[in-house]
This record gives sequence, C-alpha cells and structure tokens, in this order.
Amino acid sequence: MKPYYITTAIDYTNAPPHIGHAYEKVLADVMARFQRTTGREVYFLTGVDQHGQKVQKSAAAAGLSPQEFVAGITEKFIALWDKLEVRYDGWAATTDVRHKRVVQAMLTRLHDCGQLYKQAYKGHYSVRQEQFLTDKERGPDGQFGEEWGEVIELEEENWYFRLSDHIEWLKTHIREHPDFITPTFRATDVLNALENFGGQDLCISRPVERLSWGIPLPFDERFVNYVWFDALSNYVSFAGYLADEVGNESLPDFNRLWPADAEIIGKDILIPAHAIYWSTMLHALGFDGDQMPKFLVHGWWNIRGAKMSKSLGNVIDPNALSDTLGADGLRYYLMRDIATGYDADFSEERVLMAYNKELAGGLGNLLNRSLNMAHKYREGQLNCSSGYDDEENAQLRRVVAEALPVYLEKMAAWNIHEGIAAAWKIVTQANQFVDSTQPFRLAKDPEQAARLDSVLHHLAEALLHVSLLLDPVMPTAMSKLRAQIGWQPPATFLIQNLTWGLLPDGHRLNNPSPLFPRLEVE
Ligand code: ME8
Ligand code: MG
Repeated sequence: MKPYYITTAIDYTNAPPHIGHAYEKVLADVMARFQRTTGREVYFLTGVDQHGQKVQKSAAAAGLSPQEFVAGITEKFIALWDKLEVRYDGWAATTDVRHKRVVQAMLTRLHDCGQLYKQAYKGHYSVRQEQFLTDKERGPDGQFGEEWGEVIELEEENWYFRLSDHIEWLKTHIREHPDFITPTFRATDVLNALENFGGQDLCISRPVERLSWGIPLPFDERFVNYVWFDALSNYVSFAGYLADEVGNESLPDFNRLWPADAEIIGKDILIPAHAIYWSTMLHALGFDGDQMPKFLVHGWWNIRGAKMSKSLGNVIDPNALSDTLGADGLRYYLMRDIATGYDADFSEERVLMAYNKELAGGLGNLLNRSLNMAHKYREGQLNCSSGYDDEENAQLRRVVAEALPVYLEKMAAWNIHEGIAAAWKIVTQANQFVDSTQPFRLAKDPEQAARLDSVLHHLAEALLHVSLLLDPVMPTAMSKLRAQIGWQPPATFLIQNLTWGLLPDGHRLNNPSPLFPRLEVE
C-alpha cells in the first residue's frame, strides 16, 4: 500500500506562530501517529512559506535582509514543533534550492505547452497594498477607500497561466469526487465560487522591480514567480516530483507517495488558492482525476467570537500555553474542543476546564488512586489467578470493548474530538467503577480478597486501553502512564487488534506520580 501522505499549509514566515498554526500542525501530527498505530506507513510533510511581498516588506521594516528575516521566524516555527512534539518526516522551506529547481521545471513545462502567456495590464494600483485593484475593491460610493492609500494608474506586463482552460474540468472533478474536499459543504462553496470564475486567468509573475524576493521565471528573468504558485508547489516538490529531472536528492519516491491523502488547510485558503489555483495547476501539468490531492479543510480558532489579529492584540501564543499546560495538555485542548471543519472559540476557562477537570481530575486522578490502592493493598502486584468475576467487572470490560470500534471510525474520519470522546467513556466508567466497588471497603474484608484483586486488575487494564487510544493525542503523557503501569506495547502492536488481557497474572505495577499536576488558578 502507498504511504499515507499528510501535508499541511506551509506557514507564512511574516510573523511568529500563533495558536491557529499550532492547531493545524497538531491535527496533522495526531493523524500521522494514529495511522502509524494502525500499521500504515506515513509520510508527514510540513514547512514554511518564505517568499513574497509581505516578507520583503517586513524584512525591510526590521532592517534585515529577507534571508535573515525568514531565518529568524523559521527558527521559531521549528522550535515550536519540537516543543509540541509535532514529528514530521519532511520539511518544506520554499527557499530550499531543491524546491526552486522543481518550481522552475514546472514553469518551464507549462511555458513549453502553451499554458503561460505574457500580457500587458493597465489598471488602478494600490501603492500601499502593492496590488492591482478591480471594481470589487471599490466602495459603495464607487471610490477606492482609505485602506488602499494612494491609488495610481499603472500599466505592467506580466505572465499569466491559462487557468480558465481547466474550470469546466474542475467543476466535473468536484461533482464526481465527493471525497476531494472534506467537509462536503466546502466543496459546495467551491462550486458556487466557480460559477463566477469564467474567463479569468491567473497572473503568476511579479516584475523584479516590485518584488525581488521570489523564484525567477526561468524563461524571463525580469520576473519572479507569484508567491502562491511557489508555495502551493511545495506539496509536490518536497514529495520528489521531477527529482530525477532536476537532480534533487534525499526526497521521497514521488510515484509511491503521490497523491496526498490529506492536504490540511484552513478555510481561508481553500478558495481560490487550493481548490482553484492548485487543482488547475496540477491539471495543466498533466495530473488527472485520480492524481489529485484530497483537501481537509479545518475551521478557525476565534477569540471570544472575534477573529484573532495582531491589530486587536488578541493573538494567542502557543509557547506560553505549552509552558503552562505541557505539550500534551495543549494538544489535548486543541483536539478536544473543536469539531474538525468548524470554527471554535478559544477561551481560558475552557482550557482550564479541559486540563483541571478532565486531565487532572478525570484521568490523572484515576491513575493515581488505582496505583495507590494497588500498592497499599497488594504491594503493587496484580493477581487474577482466582478467576473471580462479576457483573460490575463485565460492565467495565464491555465499555472498554465498545470504545475501540467507535474510536477507530472517528479517528480515521478526522473526527478527533469524537475519537477522544469514545476513549473518554472508559475513563468515566472506570471512575464510576471505583465509586461503586469501593475498594477501600473491600480491603477491610478478608472474604472480599479475590474481588479486590479483580477490581485492581480491571482498573490497571482499563487505564492501559485508555493510554493506547489517546496515544496519538498525548504521546508523552500516555507513555508515562504506561510506564507507571509497567507495560509498553510491542513494536508489532496494532491498535485495531487491542483486546482485553494485556496484563498477566502477577504483573508488577510501578509507583504513581501525578501525570497532570493540577493548575492553580488566580
Ligand atoms: O496562509 N485558526 O500561511 P498562514 C486556525 N502561507 N487556523 C488558522 C488560523 C486560526 N485562527 N489562522 C491561520 C498561509 N490558520 C500560506 C499557506 S500553503 C501552500 C500556503 C491557518 O501562516 C491557515 O488557514 O497565514 C493556514 O492553513 C495556516 O494556518 C497557515 O496560515
Ligand atoms: Mg493567512
């Protein structure tokens, strides 16, 4: 089977990472880890988008060369992924010479087959925003508003891609491939947008006088490539596309890897960039229907209903949050409090609730009291040789068994929050099990010894199941949980084969230590 190829949007290196960036990369990482626990080979690519006007401008404002500027920001992204345990296989940085070679080869191909043409364009141009303006940008009074600053008439030659040649194909492709864009309502949005897209081609160049921080067009060096064409190409350039032709090394085997099983992007960059520009670029290069990537479109984290923005000063820094909650605490919150595809509201109250009530109070406390009781009453040794069983035990085993198929289905479909909820049913049931079996009472009655043994065994076993299901979401904490239980999965372990009975008679438990120390709130 081909490797499961997961890629994400490449983050713009104009500013340091924020919580939205962290969410997308954690989502990708959770899926990569989940797929691996099912035995699937995975290739996970992420990276940074380093060219373009905004970078050139920010660098100038900071008194740095664009190279120096993006190097500093890129470091911050890499450090964050390291901290959050986002473990990618490939790093797509658009200033990488291997990427540049592939982009230029792609441009040459399109040029050679007549898909690019040069044309002069005359129109209104915003000096401040450095873009041509159309009637869409006019205000209700017919004028260009304040936000555009000085607007001049400008005539400029540029290179265009015959995008309009591919629109009918794209409409058909979307209609015939319901799994092309997830969630489905986003595909409908694209079809609606395409209704008004006829006849427009895509300008894929910028004159070097205006923008020098980009990849030169190989057939006309007075122009650099438009940043979106450059950035979108990362999904193939770092997957080994045209590697032999351009002499690229240390990249995957493109024929094995492509197409992407998931290009994970936010809702803002589906239309037009991914759904329209990228799909038609690929089609023009000769990629046909079954060679198209699949898009997974996620929603946005808002702050109290408002968009997160530098000007509002409400940008959430994932570094600070990770320092407080730990990488696993932050990963858990980001995965449990959003439905994939929809927006969610980031709130400090919700963060604390998820950590203190669920992780510390629900799961951490269950582990702690289960291990403490086993040490207090049985010196940390599990015994199940008596064969004692009863309906309460059976009920806990049923809940454990029922969690797995739901979990597998939800995770595979990217519904991570529902996958977590499926696993959490075990946590809830196990806590109830402690309350109803009252092990501290059983311990006082020698006649209940076998029952107490079975209770302690059931708790340890149930906790192991939880740790295996939540492993993709909280890899370090779940490994620590298992270290306290004293059991780790063998290399050949596959999550779909998980069944009751991991812990043998006589198994020795290790000492408990708090997995999620409670956060004190001011
Ligand atoms: O768009 N919540 O880069 P970017 C969730 N370089 N996701 C968010 C978000 C939020 N509040 N804000 C942004 C770019 N994102 C281009 C991509 S791909 C060839 C080039 C998501 O740094 C956003 O939707 O602005 C995108 O998927 C990713 O973060 C990077 O955004
Ligand atoms: Mg953006």
